[in-house]
Amino acid sequence: MYKEKILSLLRSSRKGFLSGEELARKTGISRTMIWKHIASLRGEGFTIDAVPSQGYRLASEPDLLRQQDITTGLKTRVIGREIQLFPTLASPNTAAMELASGGAVEGTVVVAETQTGGKGRLGRKWISPKGNLYLSIILRPSIPTYKAPVITLMGAVAVASAIGKTCGLAAGIKWPNDIFIAGKKVGGLLTEMSAEQDRIRHIVLGIGVDVNMMLDELPPDIRALTTTLSEETGTSINRTAFLRQLLKDLDHWYQQFLAQDADVLAEWKRLNVTVGKRVTVSGAGETLEGQAEGIDAEGRLLVRQDDGTLSTVAAGDVTIVKK
Ligand code: BTN
Repeated sequence: MYKEKILSLLRSSRKGFLSGEELARKTGISRTMIWKHIASLRGEGFTIDAVPSQGYRLASEPDLLRQQDITTGLKTRVIGREIQLFPTLASPNTAAMELASGGAVEGTVVVAETQTGGKGRLGRKWISPKGNLYLSIILRPSIPTYKAPVITLMGAVAVASAIGKTCGLAAGIKWPNDIFIAGKKVGGLLTEMSAEQDRIRHIVLGIGVDVNMMLDELPPDIRALTTTLSEETGTSINRTAFLRQLLKDLDHWYQQFLAQDADVLAEWKRLNVTVGKRVTVSGAGETLEGQAEGIDAEGRLLVRQDDGTLSTVAAGDVTIVKK
């Protein structure tokens, strides 16, 4: 708590120095204790200059997510009621599924700086170097199980919205939930669920967003199809600010989903880049081609094939056919 107070004082006096005496007076602790907290902040990666007879000055901050920075002043109703932060995890989705089975509160968010076994859609791996965002959210909506896929669409809407607000970039959604900027993938969502016949026990909404990583950390085939928020803006992104906005947008769209899921579908349609295009959809050993006509109330893609057949696709990989 004192450490956070000292950090906040240093942050708000960025240009000038703050003497040990001043810090001691403003926090109500001894100068020795101030020195100890400064050492601890340095241990976390903060560069704090100390100049005799002038005091301390914050020179730079590490690109690390910190509990206090994420939660201070965060006014969400459900999402982020509890936040668990880890330097590394096999997969936040797996960790969140376990926490949910153990009774974790709805809205719990699990965040990891890196993942060693990150899971992507359709059984793929999600390559997860430092500098990006990897988070999973526990939800317990009272909805019929067939509505669960709309939660993933809701998550995609929130991610696209947060990208627009924090980076000023127009993100689109490729069905079902790939986040695209200028034709390249910047994020994805993976939902896992525990349910009985007609009752959802819990849903874990997993989100991965490529924020600040270097693209050369990816294998060449994936690199060619991928971008990052920093690549698109030409500047390093403050991941804490982005995460806070994402939690707010998720909170907003989750409330909206519970009240009127048609609003989520309408916003998804507004942001999507698939409907209206000619597409090929591959999955389960089959490929079909046709015109993407829309999605149904359960988020499935409707594809009109050339012979007039309307196919309803629940899962698969979409490629937009360029003419
Ligand atoms: C995809 O587009 O294939 C979905 C990627 C989902 C990645 C996120 S990162 C946090 C969460 N935990 C995981 O193991 N995966 C999801």
